[in-house]
Amino acid sequence: MSKSEVVYLNGEYPSKNEASLSILDRGFLFGDGVYELIPIHNKKIFYMNDHFHRLKKSLELINIDPNIVDETDFEKIINSLIRSNGYTNHFIYIHVSRGVDNVRNHIYTENISPTILVMGETYQPFGLDIIKEGKKAIIEDDYRWLKSNIKSTSLLANVMIKNKANSNDAYEALLIRDGFLTEGSASNVFIVKDEIIKTPKLSNKLLPGITRKFLTDMISMHGLGFEECDISKDALLDSDEIFCSSSTNPVVPIKQLDNKLISNNAGPLTLKIYNHAQDYIKGYHK
Ligand code: PDD
Repeated sequence: MSKSEVVYLNGEYPSKNEASLSILDRGFLFGDGVYELIPIHNKKIFYMNDHFHRLKKSLELINIDPNIVDETDFEKIINSLIRSNGYTNHFIYIHVSRGVDNVRNHIYTENISPTILVMGETYQPFGLDIIKEGKKAIIEDDYRWLKSNIKSTSLLANVMIKNKANSNDAYEALLIRDGFLTEGSASNVFIVKDEIIKTPKLSNKLLPGITRKFLTDMISMHGLGFEECDISKDALLDSDEIFCSSSTNPVVPIKQLDNKLISNNAGPLTLKIYNHAQDYIKGYHK
């Protein structure tokens, strides 16, 4: 972080290391809030309308007025952070909590002002060598709540699961609920079987990933076989290829799942989608 890097917090632009919040903020006490993580490519906000639409949906689902998205003018704020902080390829984190209450109480006061934070973050996407090599993943029970379609800041289960994967030298944990794949702890999951790319249907059990949408756009633009369907744990283990998608790393090939080798390295269709995604991103300019 450069000393002068600024963030947006409730209408002001303090420096990142000086911005501060009340201890009575419900985001801090209860994880009572939602967020977005948005890539900036070539100074341009990637899939902006989709991210703002999902943010509105998340707010609506936790009973915070979604109109604050239009009223706040996030596009202007993000562009101002891009200019002031000199971001070219970067990530923007938006965090909206229910706000600061008078007391710590599960029951919230109606219509308190939400806390709005927008800040830049750096994540280093994997280089081509790592992508070609592929990564390991583990399988874990999906013990999260049943509203995983909300991009909630209450991420304790995801944090525990991702750290379990990490301590097993794995990039990701692929989650199974009632015998079926939902998603990863911080990504959506695609498989390839007999040259058809498949991913679980959207529901309350998984996040409607914007990269998932971006990749399905790439898949249809390039005429590849695709299906949204239920994927059993057995079908997952029997895949020809597996990859994870997220804003931080659009396509991450999974070559090994627990002790089962899925593919020797990144699979051919996975690499094809990776390349289409990279080409699209490279051409993404203002
Ligand atoms: N996480 N599912 C979960 C549980 C996630 O946390 C994420 C992304 C995704 C992919 O969503 P998208 O394509 O919109 O990034 C799916 C982000 C990167 C995070 O929490 O930092």
